[in-house]
Amino acid sequence: MTNSNTKTFNSTFEKEVNEGLVAFPKYLSSKWFYDKKGDKLFQDIMAMPEYYLTDCEYNILDTHTAAIANQFNSPEGFDLIELGAGDGKKTKLLLKYLSDQNVNFDYLPIDISQNALDQLEESLTKEFPKVSVKTQQGTYFEVLEKISEYNKRKKIILFLGSNIGNLLHEQAINFLTKVKDVMSGDDMLFMGFDQKKHPQTILDAYNDKAGITEAFNKNILHRINNELEANFNVDNFLHWEVYDPESGSAKSYLVSKEAQTVYIKALDLTVNFNAWESIHTEISQKYTDAVVEWLAEESGLKVVTNFTDENKYYKNYIFNAN
Ligand SMILES: C[S@@+](CC[C@H](N)C(=O)[O-])C[C@H]1O[C@@H](n2cnc3c(N)ncnc32)[C@H](O)[C@@H]1O
Repeated sequence: MTNSNTKTFNSTFEKEVNEGLVAFPKYLSSKWFYDKKGDKLFQDIMAMPEYYLTDCEYNILDTHTAAIANQFNSPEGFDLIELGAGDGKKTKLLLKYLSDQNVNFDYLPIDISQNALDQLEESLTKEFPKVSVKTQQGTYFEVLEKISEYNKRKKIILFLGSNIGNLLHEQAINFLTKVKDVMSGDDMLFMGFDQKKHPQTILDAYNDKAGITEAFNKNILHRINNELEANFNVDNFLHWEVYDPESGSAKSYLVSKEAQTVYIKALDLTVNFNAWESIHTEISQKYTDAVVEWLAEESGLKVVTNFTDENKYYKNYIFNAN
């Protein structure tokens, strides 16, 4: 149980929902999108033609598998630790190559969603029986503390899907610094960063016509209804996406279509919304080489090399600790 001022909370979810909905302006963290329904919706998003990120990163890993794997190689083998692994669709390209080459490595996927980890483990057992898999449930920050225990051989830390883009630059530097602190010797960080491009291409990726992204964004309200006994009328909220080409920030909001009141029983909290008031739910930052290099420098990391797709929409960088 955690206590914030006079209120006691049974989980981080309760605490953060309470904090975000009493704040002005209101906000909720995108990490709460991912329950069983949210995991499935995200898989549907990855399959959408508008969501170019998955195709680009898949293409990079598919085209450069050997070159990437060669960077990872080490005489004692290595531990491949993935943060926010999801369904591992793209990582499987690497796993297949490494398994086929009989490379000595363990795969350690980490995710906040136990459901995602269970499904991933089941599919890996079938597809790559030779690969040793150890899943770990938790947030990036919780699990990073434990990663430092893996210090017997080279560590490769994977962070795909431009998940870093869910963090503001200041949070990203804090996160990367924590990653750097658990890296030593020839350890490497392999990360995907979605790049700046035509603003319409970016907007379309988060605002598809079929409404899958809308359902994903609104899933956070369904989750609060189901898990915290709330009475959000989800249809009274609009999914709204904006992209600022100057800062490179794409932001998702839920906008209240009318003045309304919601009661969250588990928090004993009444939340009032003015007409057109927003809840900020997600940031998906877009990058340039200069910004990635600045983030690395601020965090004590060094760019070793990068790989890109044919449109240069997306880049995967390899970093080591300075
Ligand atoms: C955008 S998906 C990307 C999945 C995968 N990396 C990919 O590229 O396809 C984000 C994944 O990270 C997990 N996740 C989100 N926020 C997290 C957090 N703070 N800590 C740990 N996992 C998180 C989600 O459950 C989800 O599986």
